[in-house]
Parts: sequence; structure tokens; C-alpha cells
Amino acid sequence: MINFSDYGIEMWDDEKIASFRRTLLAWYDNEKRDLPWRRTKNPYHIWVSEIMLQQTQVATVIPYYERFLAWFPTVDALATAPEEKLLKAWEGLGYYSRVRNMQTAAQEIMDDFNGEFPSTYEAILSLKGIGPYTAGAIASIAFNLPEPAVDGNVMRVMARLFEVNYDIGDPKNRKIFQAIMEVLIDPERPGDFNQALMDLGTDIESAKNPRPDESPIRFFSAAYLHGTYDKYPIKLPKKKPKPLQIQAFVIRNSTGDFLLEKNTDGRLLGGFWSFPIMETNFIEQQLDLFETDNAKNTLKTRSQKTLFKEDYQLNPTWTNQTFNHVKHTFSHQKWTIELIEGSVNSTAFTKDRELRWVAPDQLSAYPMATPQKKMLKEYLKMEK
Ligand code: ADE
Repeated sequence: MINFSDYGIEMWDDEKIASFRRTLLAWYDNEKRDLPWRRTKNPYHIWVSEIMLQQTQVATVIPYYERFLAWFPTVDALATAPEEKLLKAWEGLGYYSRVRNMQTAAQEIMDDFNGEFPSTYEAILSLKGIGPYTAGAIASIAFNLPEPAVDGNVMRVMARLFEVNYDIGDPKNRKIFQAIMEVLIDPERPGDFNQALMDLGTDIESAKNPRPDESPIRFFSAAYLHGTYDKYPIKLPKKKPKPLQIQAFVIRNSTGDFLLEKNTDGRLLGGFWSFPIMETNFIEQQLDLFETDNAKNTLKTRSQKTLFKEDYQLNPTWTNQTFNHVKHTFSHQKWTIELIEGSVNSTAFTKDRELRWVAPDQLSAYPMATPQKKMLKEYLKMEK
């Protein structure tokens, strides 16, 4: 436990804490949203909802959540699900490592906990892919344990309540907010307490459009009372995603099938199928040595196509069709993708790569991540 005054935080006395709990929970009892995962105490269901809610907003999650539980109704079903179906269930949500980790965690529950979802904070936290936030959410909601669930929303609300002068984007400051929450959390209704703050943080006390005058806890808020609401939370700018130039090769055989490649497991988008792609920042750097754009472009295209032939042992006829660039931003990379179209007669593959010819009407059977979907859409727009 930290010493609050070391951090410039004036912690409340017991009476004020009790009053805060009553105020927050009374508001929650009136205003709480009716959500599918709030009608259950099943820790498996709550876990699924919490992982999905880390990726996107409530309205988007609901259909994913219901389909996921229909496909994998138990921890056992998740533990033994085929990879393709698992990725399909997550298609469009992004951060696929999260669903892979969920499967590993499900296997851990089967092997190490006799198939019974663990019921202590420490044991839940020990599962693959479950960090302090998720462990706190599951422990408090499913098992009624007084464990905080500290995410960005909760940190924002706490920062305003106590005028916390520490960057909420810096992971090492999380302990400050965790400590505040450990004091504030209602031991009688920890799950509701955490979820009340989540509701408040995503709506009335949101980051972009807060409505401070409507907050049920405004009279507890130092920032509100001191007129410093706009200053909190402190959030310093993050590193920008790194721009990458990518070439994608749309290669079709004489029957019109597409060449797809399975991405290497364990890497970005591992396990997903995509047009073969190459990153060409390296080539770009070499090209900067040349003077004119024209010379650069000719050389660039030639070198990409040569590289493709060498790496894939195929000899396409290039169509020189041009496409709009496809853009996709991950948290750490920003891709600009150039599509290059070609056709081949020979359909023999090199053994070094996992390649497949796929008929257009079979494409939907292959798990595809969002960048590939965008590429396909762009390609089909231009194909006449
Ligand atoms: N965001 C994350 N967890 C949530 C929950 N249980 N309810 C509403 N929003 C959430």
C-alpha cells in the first residue's frame, strides 16, 4: 500500500468513504445498463465479456459475446476449439493474441484446476492473458471479492476525484489508482461498485465528452469542486504508430483462384490468411539514393516483383493495374498497402511457405484479419 500524501493525495475519512459508496451504488441501482453479462455470475461468461470489452464498445461486443458463448458454451469447449473457428469468432475484433491466450487459459483451467474456474484473485491472475484489471473484474463480479478493476475509465474518474497529478498513460502510475480503489471499493458489493465506475467512466465521465454537472459523484470530486475538472486526468501524448510501406501481391491462377498465404504463428496476425505481403521500408531506404521519383518508382516496382518471384518461386505476368492504397493502423504500426496484381499458369508451390489457391467463393472459409479484408474489398472494387 502506498502512502497517499507522498503522491499529493488527500484520502477521505471513513464517513466520507461510506457516503461515497452509498451515492455511487444508489445511482447504479437506478441507472445501470441491462447487459447480457450482467444477468449472470458465471465467471467464464464474465471473462469472455471483459476480454471483448477491452477491444471495443458495449454495443459492438453484444453480438460477438452471444455468438462466442453459443459456439464455445463451456471452458472445455473453448479449450478444445479448432484454431480456425476460434479466429473466426474473433474476426473483426482485432488483437487476436487475446483469443489465443483465452484458449491457453481455458486449457490451464482444464489441466490445473480440474475444469473448475478458479475462485481467488491470485489464481485467476495466474491464467494466461489475465492481468490485474481482468482478474479484478472477474473476482469482484463473479465471486464478490473486494478487488478493484482498474482500467483507463477508473483511473480517469479517480484522477478527477482526487486531482491526481500523475500520468494515467504511464503503467508505473497504475499502483496509485489501484491503492485509491482498494480503499474506496465497497466490500459488500464490489462487483457493482466496479461496474458503476465503468458505466460512469464510459458515459457521464467519459474522456472526450464528459458531462460533469450530471455526475452523481460530483460533490466528492476535488477537480469538480475546485474548477480544475478540465485538467484531469493527466495524460501525456503517446508514441505514434510506426509507418510501414507494404506490398500485397494479388496473384490469380488460370481458374481465377487467389493465392493466399497463412501468416506465421506467433507473429503479428499469426494464423490468418492473407495475400502474400512484403514490407518494403528497406527498399525505400535504398531508393532514397536515387534522384527522381520516376526512377525511384520504376526501380521500386521492379525490385518488389523480383523479390516476390524469388521468395514464392512463381513467375507471374503482372497486369500493371493500379489500385488505391489500403490503409490500416495497429496500435504500434501504420500500414500503407500497395496492391500488385499478377496471374500465373503454373501452380506448383515452394515448400517453404504455407500457400493455397482459394476460389473466390471459398474465401470466407479462411480466417482473415481486417487489413486483408480491406485489401480484398479494394481489389474487388477495381476488378471488372
Ligand atoms: N467495460 C468493461 N467491463 C464492463 C462491464 N462489466 N460493464 C460495462 N462496461 C464494461
